[in-house]
Amino acid sequence: MLSRQLSRRRFIGQGSIGILALTIGTRTARSQQAPPAVADLITRQITPFNAEPPLPKLIENWITPVNSFFVRSHGTVPSLDAKELTLTVDGLVERSLTFRLAELLERFPAATTTATITCAGNRRAEFAAIKKVGGVQWDAGAIGNAEWQGVRLVDVLKLAGIKSGARHVWFEGQDEVTEKDNKFPFGGSIPLEKALDESLTGASLLATRMNGKPLTPDHGFPLRTIVPGFIGARSVKWLNRITVADRPSPNHFVADVYKVVPEENAELIAKTTPIYEFMLNSAICVPAAGATVAGHSLNVKGFALTNGTKGRKVQQIDVSADGGMTWKAAKVTSPVRDFCWVLWTADVPVTATTSSLLVRATDSSGEVQPEKCPWNYKGYQFNGWHKINVKQS
Ligand code: MTE
Repeated sequence: MLSRQLSRRRFIGQGSIGILALTIGTRTARSQQAPPAVADLITRQITPFNAEPPLPKLIENWITPVNSFFVRSHGTVPSLDAKELTLTVDGLVERSLTFRLAELLERFPAATTTATITCAGNRRAEFAAIKKVGGVQWDAGAIGNAEWQGVRLVDVLKLAGIKSGARHVWFEGQDEVTEKDNKFPFGGSIPLEKALDESLTGASLLATRMNGKPLTPDHGFPLRTIVPGFIGARSVKWLNRITVADRPSPNHFVADVYKVVPEENAELIAKTTPIYEFMLNSAICVPAAGATVAGHSLNVKGFALTNGTKGRKVQQIDVSADGGMTWKAAKVTSPVRDFCWVLWTADVPVTATTSSLLVRATDSSGEVQPEKCPWNYKGYQFNGWHKINVKQS
C-alpha cells in the first residue's frame, strides 16, 4: 500500500537506464532573501516570490513572454544543476527508471505544446466582495500562455510499463515548502488517463523549455511538468520524481490544498476531490480598472478560456457597459487552440452614466460564465463575470 512516506526510499537504486553526459547549462543560485526584480510583474508576495503582470501588459501577446508570465511558488526556488538532475519513474510500473536529463531528451522524441497555465487562485482578490479569503491576493493576472518544449509524459510512462491497478500519476518537485514546522517538496498528481493522452495539443509534457529558451529558475529549471487543461498546481516545477499509483498523491497540495470547500474542516477536505480542470473564465484587461472613459465608444480588450475540457472552444464573449442590460459581442483576435486562452476585443457604446464594464464568456458546450461565483474557503476558481469600475472624464 502506498503511504505518505512511501516512495523515495523504496524505489531509489532500483533498475535504471544508462546515464549520459549533459548538454544543458547550470544555473546560478538565487538567494531566497532577495527577490528578483522582474520589471513586468507586480509582486504579490516577496518570499516565496509570487507575482503577476499588470492586466494591460498580460494581453499584449497571445504567447506570454517569460518576463510577463506570472510566478506562483509555495516554497524555495531550488538551486539546481541540470547536469546533476535525475528523474526517477517508479511505483506501479513494470520497471523503475532513472534518467539524467540529457538522456531523457535524447531517448524520447522532442515534443512541443502550446498551453495556458492558470493558477486555481487566479482572481482570488474578488472573493473579498463577499468575504476576504486567505492566500495570495491575485488579481486576474495569474495566467499565461506559452509554448512548452520537452518530451511527452506518455512516452516515458509507456517505457516504464503501467501495471494493472494504476490510476494516478504523482509528480514531486525539489523545492522546500514549510507548513506548520514540516518541510517537504511540492507535489501534484493527475489521473492516469490524462497522463496517457497522446494527442498533439493534449499531451502532458516533461518540459525543459519555455518559449524557445531553457526554463528560468522561477518557472521550474531545469524540468517541470506541463498538464494542458489542468490548474497550474498540477504542472510541477523542479521535477525529479514521477510515481504511478492507485490513488491521488498524498502530498499536501493534492490531499489538503487545491480543493473547493466551504470551511477548514479536515474530514470534509479529506473527502473532497482535488481540483484538476480550471473553469470557464474571462477578464477585461484594457482599459485598466479605474481608467477614465470619454466619448461614445470604448475599445475593451481581454482574455477568455474554457474549463480545460478537450475540444471545448470559447464560443462567445460579451461585454457590457451598462451593468449587464445590453451586451456587445467581442471579436477574437488570437489563434484558437485547445487548452489555450483566446484574446478578444470589442468596441462598446458608452454614455455619461457608464461606471463599469463587464465581461462574460460562453463555451461551445453552451456553458455560460456565471454572474456570481459561490464563495469558498480557500478562494479557488473564481469565475464570476469580470467587472472593472471606470470613471467619467
Ligand atoms: N511546482 C513546485 N515544485 N512548487 C510550486 O510551488 N506551484 C504550482 C505549479 N508548480 C508550484 C509548482 C502552482 S500553484 C502554479 S499555479 C504553477 O506552478 C505556476 O507556474 P509558474 O510559476 O511557472 O507560473
